[in-house]
Amino acid sequence: MTREISVELQKVSKLYGQDKVVDEVSFTVEKGEIFVLIGPSGCGKTTTLKMINQLIPHTSGNILVNGIDVAELDAVELRRSIGYVIQYIGLLPHLTIQENIAFVLKLTKQSKKMQKEKAEELIETVGLPTNYLTRYPRELSGGQQQRVGVARALAANPDILLMDEPFGAVDPLTREQLQNELLRLQETIRKTIVFVTHDIQEAFKVGSRIGILKQGKLVCLGTPMEIVKTDDEFVKSFIGQGALFEVLDTIEVSRVLEKEVPLVSENEKVDRTADILSGWDNVFVVNSDSKCLGYIPLNTLEPDGSFSKGQIISLPASSTPDISVKFAVEKMLWEGRTWLPIVDEKDGFKGIVLFRSCADLLAGDRG
Ligand SMILES: Nc1ncnc2c1ncn2[C@@H]1O[C@H](COP(=O)(O)OP(=O)(O)OP(=O)(O)O)[C@@H](O)[C@H]1O
Ligand SMILES: [Mg+2]
Repeated sequence: MTREISVELQKVSKLYGQDKVVDEVSFTVEKGEIFVLIGPSGCGKTTTLKMINQLIPHTSGNILVNGIDVAELDAVELRRSIGYVIQYIGLLPHLTIQENIAFVLKLTKQSKKMQKEKAEELIETVGLPTNYLTRYPRELSGGQQQRVGVARALAANPDILLMDEPFGAVDPLTREQLQNELLRLQETIRKTIVFVTHDIQEAFKVGSRIGILKQGKLVCLGTPMEIVKTDDEFVKSFIGQGALFEVLDTIEVSRVLEKEVPLVSENEKVDRTADILSGWDNVFVVNSDSKCLGYIPLNTLEPDGSFSKGQIISLPASSTPDISVKFAVEKMLWEGRTWLPIVDEKDGFKGIVLFRSCADLLAGDRG
């Protein structure tokens, strides 16, 4: 499968006088992904982002947007075709929320009607009531202003969105809410997003891939799982301890689900010679609706493999396949168990998750 590349940096550098603030940075951003750039203050995140839409011209290297070198594109058009959510929100204080959202549409001389309709649509997209459109930025909370910033960036319906610490100026709770909203929104709008943050939890949460910058150099690039397993000392100290466990929050438990579980239907006998039993202590009893009635330890079966209803031990509380590995591990630790049954919304038995498989995932055997 060939993947479409939306943004590509090839050995891009930025010099201010003798100062190389971005140093031969290369990465590609695939269409539809959220690519996160992270690093300490002053490492060159904003500069890198602004070079993509040429708000800052680069000194050397190539920048391609949808396969075309930005040097060949008209800078104004390029900027308008890429949504940009700036650090510290940056709403224009003397304009209403509607005028702020529709700012690019006014610049491109769209009709007043279109500006109004688009502002109404977008303010709903970011979860604010339409009667806020007549307010001024100072009449909104920080989190609400952040949402307006996102709406404004979406106004020209760009394929690519650059977000510079878009949720930096709000309290942790609002921040988490905005991150969840972004992920939900992204499921429907599917933009290519380059997202800058200095918060590693945020990077793990929203990023499909993460690039870590240190003094202008890209020192690490990969999926959250790859990032936490790096040997690089700077990266390790930057992401901190406990990061590995946090990454498990981004992985669905379905990835470590044991589907080949020994089953027996409630009115049958267990075939004690079956290969599938090897390595298992229990067999799971299902009814004709594929609901799991519980399990029977193999050593309590009659010699011919038969059992009575009374021998069935009921399942511990089950979970659905969409919970995270972190949640599953916490649940097993909390309940003192080594496995967890997984059922779908209709209670159909999907298999079990073994604590061991989660540990293997951390160790990299399956990662
Ligand atoms: N116009 C400029 N002239 C000279 N140096 C600059 C200029 N703009 C930025 N710099 C320097 O370039 C470096 C990178 O700045 P940049 O804004 O990209 O950092 P950042 O990673 O976004 O930091 P923060 O997390 O604080 O936003 C900094 O050391 C900064 O001082
Ligand atoms: Mg910055």
